[in-house]
Amino acid sequence: MLLHLSDLHFGTEKPSCLAAIRKFCLEYPIEAVVVSGDLTQRARLSQFYACKQFLDSLKLPYLVVPGNHDIPLYALWQRAVKPFYTYQLFFGSLESSLETEHFYILGLNSIRRRYHTKGHISVEQIQRIDAKLKAAPAHKYKVLLAHQPFYTPPHHRHGVKDCPILGKIALEAWSQNGLNALLHGHLHQSSVHDLNQIYHLRAQHPVLAIQAGTATSYRLHQGLPNSLNTLCANGTVQHYYFDALRQCFVQGVANVDD
Ligand SMILES: [Fe+2]
Repeated sequence: MLLHLSDLHFGTEKPSCLAAIRKFCLEYPIEAVVVSGDLTQRARLSQFYACKQFLDSLKLPYLVVPGNHDIPLYALWQRAVKPFYTYQLFFGSLESSLETEHFYILGLNSIRRRYHTKGHISVEQIQRIDAKLKAAPAHKYKVLLAHQPFYTPPHHRHGVKDCPILGKIALEAWSQNGLNALLHGHLHQSSVHDLNQIYHLRAQHPVLAIQAGTATSYRLHQGLPNSLNTLCANGTVQHYYFDALRQCFVQGVANVDD
């Protein structure tokens, strides 16, 4: 089982949610933790440090990708010249991969300094991910981790404006080479959609877009509680929501196309 966290936004984190995640990791059979970006609120050294300390404290393998909050907003020189400098001090590569007993997980960096919130991917990234999927173990559930969603429901306030421009073209290639799920954040809202149906990808299996809310931040979307997801290797997704009274994450309802 994978634990999917997103939008931790260290600098605006709730200690109660951090404690609840630590407890969750002790209670569930988690193979690895994946975090789909926005590790920090303002890409500050102290915020990355706190995030790294927290992820290390879970004592599980983990994989992270940057979000739009993980490059400096006000430090203009650094933003222009080395936008990922502080991120990479703590987390190294912008596109790591991780393999567990049941999962093959690839990180994809969708952040560009010119498009502060809008996701962007290149043709070269599409080809590189495609080659990795082709070479991946056939029996493992194949997951791509990126910050921005490749699909948002039409009624969402972000609409499609924050989806990577080449997202649909990428999905057409990747789904033919076994991609099972895309895990993302950015919208601070949980959902699951089958992109195979929505985009008519002609894959022989579902291609899930799994959206995680913010697991730890005070920056909540329309008053929704903090949340996290679990993903099993048979494609089952569960959303868990923070219960302030019980100080733990409690299972909610996860429906495809909810
Ligand atoms: Fe965020």
